[in-house]
Amino acid sequence: SGPDTYSPTGQPTAADQARMAQAGSYLTTAQGARLYDTDHSLKAGPRGPVLLQDHHLREKIMHFDHERIPERVVHARGAAAHGVFKAYGTASSVTRAAFLAKDVETPVFVRFSTVLGSRGSADTVRDTRGFATKFYTSEGVFDLVGNNIPVFFIQDAIKFPDIVHAAKPHPDREIPQAQSAHDTHWDFVTLHTEATHHVLWNMSDRGIPRSFRTMEGFGIHTFRLVDAEGRTTLVKWHWKPKLGVHSLVWEEAQIISGVDPDFHRRDLADAIEAGAYPEWELGIQTFPDTPEQTFEGIDLLDPTNIVPEELAPVQPIGRLILNRNPSNFFAETEQVAFHPGHLVPGIDITDDPLLSGRLFSYLDTQITRLAGPNFGQIPINRTHAPVNDMLRDGFHQTAVHRGVAPYRPNSLDGGCPFTAGADMGAYVEAPVRIPEAKKVREAPETFADHFSQPRRFWLSMSPVEREHIIGAYTFELGKCYEQAVKERGLQVLANIDPELCAEVAAGLGLPAPSATVPLADVEPSPALSQVGH
Ligand code: HEM
Repeated sequence: SGPDTYSPTGQPTAADQARMAQAGSYLTTAQGARLYDTDHSLKAGPRGPVLLQDHHLREKIMHFDHERIPERVVHARGAAAHGVFKAYGTASSVTRAAFLAKDVETPVFVRFSTVLGSRGSADTVRDTRGFATKFYTSEGVFDLVGNNIPVFFIQDAIKFPDIVHAAKPHPDREIPQAQSAHDTHWDFVTLHTEATHHVLWNMSDRGIPRSFRTMEGFGIHTFRLVDAEGRTTLVKWHWKPKLGVHSLVWEEAQIISGVDPDFHRRDLADAIEAGAYPEWELGIQTFPDTPEQTFEGIDLLDPTNIVPEELAPVQPIGRLILNRNPSNFFAETEQVAFHPGHLVPGIDITDDPLLSGRLFSYLDTQITRLAGPNFGQIPINRTHAPVNDMLRDGFHQTAVHRGVAPYRPNSLDGGCPFTAGADMGAYVEAPVRIPEAKKVREAPETFADHFSQPRRFWLSMSPVEREHIIGAYTFELGKCYEQAVKERGLQVLANIDPELCAEVAAGLGLPAPSATVPLADVEPSPALSQVGH
């Protein structure tokens, strides 16, 4: 009962390979029977009725009828590429993750996406972008499922269905397809003001990237790294593009949406084909793992917070290069299944309540999207590490498992050296103390400040970036039908900055309200401005 692979032989058979390559001098049915014609149904005479006994006709149409699978409930539109990650070894002082040791090279698959539009929507809309990386490490798959914006809309995953219902197209008209310019979106984000920081990033130039190649990526949550001695460090993950951060201006984005709705996916594929391989440096901000889990007064468990790079510099730990386009969009880009809970030894989670909900959600949705519990066996999702699990059967099981006793311990097929080295595995949780507490449904007090960090972002912007932000709020709020929603939008802006509020109010032809909270006394963070990149 040693380590097993998911395929009975470990490799596709010659017949499988021929089918996958569309090779061969004649067509066959799915069962391998040779066909002599695929253009005519079997009929009783050339002008007669089609016969039900035509198995080839039924098989061909049956399979076509089931070609579509449900799109992702969010991040439906995406483009992806293969590549390699090479570690500098600089993270080895804080984690025992093997793939982060010096000069280790790990194959990766990266999928970029928009969040709200459907599979066929345009690329250059104003939206957050997904930046999900699958590292096929020697110790199992590690997924870093991040976005191009370092903060999130909400602080607790229990609100995720609500924010997505609000931001997706209206249920009655199914519009707008992929923009935040509508009442339910603005209704939600102005009633749940924890969204303010994320929305401000969306309304900035970051909401309309020039290219996937010029986007930063962020893990957002604080994660916990564990070294060989069991010592822990809190970290935030950052991807820095070699080409710098660049955006489109609004007018460009609008024109491109019409002229080339595939602009971003075309750009990624063309660049790779031309040998202009996109590159990113992976970096970490590190923080001491104290019981409070705060840094310089910033709550590290609140995913609407950043830690300014001036306070905690991003330390480079490796380089990612994307160097190969997928050969089949469906098999790879569409069927890939990322999960923030796919962790390797040396990388652990924290109690960020947004992350906790994600740990449930991805696996759950993929059971529907990929029809059953065996999607880990789909080639793009297969680990490159040996697999020896006790998961059996289920829809689309393709492994022919050996052995009779998928339980441990057993005395029938060799047992399993389960205890040896168990402390070196993944999911050996760091011994973190959980404070004694009552069960409650409430957020900590430290989650209550929704405006200081947005104010810091606004104050960090150059004049032209501010102009773009003002234009974006004016356009998007201007599309709302409800006066009350527009007014609440202005109230949120007043709590960020009076000038921002006044400019947008003037654009909407409405009075500018005064702030309802004291304006935060914060320093700008020059690293937030794109002009500095
Ligand atoms: C998909 C990022 C929060 C549920 C994705 C994808 C990314 C992403 C990049 C696309 C993955 C791909 O390319 O296949 C994030 C980030 C979050 C966040 C950075 C916050 C920091 C959440 C939360 C939930 C959630 C709170 C639910 C409670 C989902 C679901 C999918 C998804 C259901 C579709 C997955 C699939 O069908 O494979 N997310 N997300 N996300 N996300 Fe999130």
